[in-house]
Amino acid sequence: MSKLWGGRFTKKPEEWVDEFNASISFDQELVLEDIEGSMAHVNMLKKCEILSKKDGDEILHGLQTLHQKALSNELEYSVEYEDIHLNLEKLLIDEIGEVGGKLHTGRSRNDQIATDMHLFLKRRVQEIIVLIEDMQEAIVHQSEENVETIIPGYTHLQRAQPISFAHHLMCYFWMLQRDKDRLSDSLNRIDISPLGAGALAGTTFPIDREYSADLLGFGSYYENSLDAVSDRDFIVEFLSNSALMMTHLSRLAEEFILWSTEEFRFIELDDSFTTGSSIMPQKKNPDMAELVRGKTGRVNGNLISLLTVLKGLPLAYNKDMQEDKEGMFDTVKTVIGSLKIFTGMIRTMTVKQKRMEEAVANDFSNATELADYLAAKGIPFRQAHEIVGKLVLHCIEEGYYLKDVSLKQFQKYSSLIEEDIYSILAPYAAVERRNSYGGTGFGQVKLQIEKGKSLLQGQVTAHR
Ligand code: ARG
Repeated sequence: MSKLWGGRFTKKPEEWVDEFNASISFDQELVLEDIEGSMAHVNMLKKCEILSKKDGDEILHGLQTLHQKALSNELEYSVEYEDIHLNLEKLLIDEIGEVGGKLHTGRSRNDQIATDMHLFLKRRVQEIIVLIEDMQEAIVHQSEENVETIIPGYTHLQRAQPISFAHHLMCYFWMLQRDKDRLSDSLNRIDISPLGAGALAGTTFPIDREYSADLLGFGSYYENSLDAVSDRDFIVEFLSNSALMMTHLSRLAEEFILWSTEEFRFIELDDSFTTGSSIMPQKKNPDMAELVRGKTGRVNGNLISLLTVLKGLPLAYNKDMQEDKEGMFDTVKTVIGSLKIFTGMIRTMTVKQKRMEEAVANDFSNATELADYLAAKGIPFRQAHEIVGKLVLHCIEEGYYLKDVSLKQFQKYSSLIEEDIYSILAPYAAVERRNSYGGTGFGQVKLQIEKGKSLLQGQVTAHR
């Protein structure tokens, strides 16, 4: 066997050097996109009469055979042919003879690989957007079941104010909505064809870039041939959007893990999304949530890797850029897996409403209610805050909560406090009253669920 670019060389690299150079072990993931790109290229060459109809048809026929074989995993690649492009070209020549060598007319591997990755990422991003919507639907469903389920809301992981559990869950719906918006918007930068840029400078052949871009379903094509082959910003943007989305998922993972502890017991994850311990029979571990949290690290790493690869590169293509692929593939796989896991976990988890109710009944997260009550009666809020703070301190010393304070005792702190304070302090009432726009009041929570549902049905644009 000899290299497809061997003409200028008098000796071949040793096999271990070939191995270091080769990308075939991972870029074979692009086999279908590569064949598709080649077909569009050949059709364009035929249309522009750069290739005869006869040669073009023979090559197309050969590419179709390779496509079939790729689908049934029959293609055999070799490290000597370096990457998916040269491997396929060699296989094509084996399949149809020397005419296969005409495929690469007016093209370079540089515009070829860029085309493959644009095609690949466009499809995966579309797939990811659908999976985000599945997870949003699971959130909406759990939220509808839990509008009036009250949990302590936290700041600093200290109990702060009671909130609706649906309100807490819907918070993630809106994060995902923005993640989805970012990914949809990024399609504007992914949906561009580099094909026809050649190695860096364009080509002397009378090609039609618009035609091949149309055949591949691209919305537009690059204006500058150097830009087309040396730009990887569309991948950086995808990695960045993914890192941010994984950060959101990781925060939810952390909450699920906390809520599943004996200390919280707010939810129970379904058996199908947990594992046992090899030694401690009682254990049920939230491994899937932990893995999503852990895998966020590699996605963040993939972003930093690619930025670092690109930062010192002169124009145009440099072999360093071969390093753009594994992180992208890994991120696609990780994001798809994590979204599916979360959709399943949310759909199947048990929400322990009673336990949440108990938690919120026995804490000081209703202290703001008392301060607001006094402020509403004309006491400056700052003074009301001071009064309630003293009262809380008293309760802590005595070992009871605000609901247990007698009216007489309350009135020692402020004569403005009356019998109605007990209904004001009830957590349910505290949540119900917070009906400012976007607040946790049940009416508001129902409103955002409705809005979320119609967004999923594509009816309205997000409130900004
Ligand atoms: N395997 C290469 C990559 O992924 C394809 C482009 C090679 N181009 C070149 N001029 N050596 O980057």
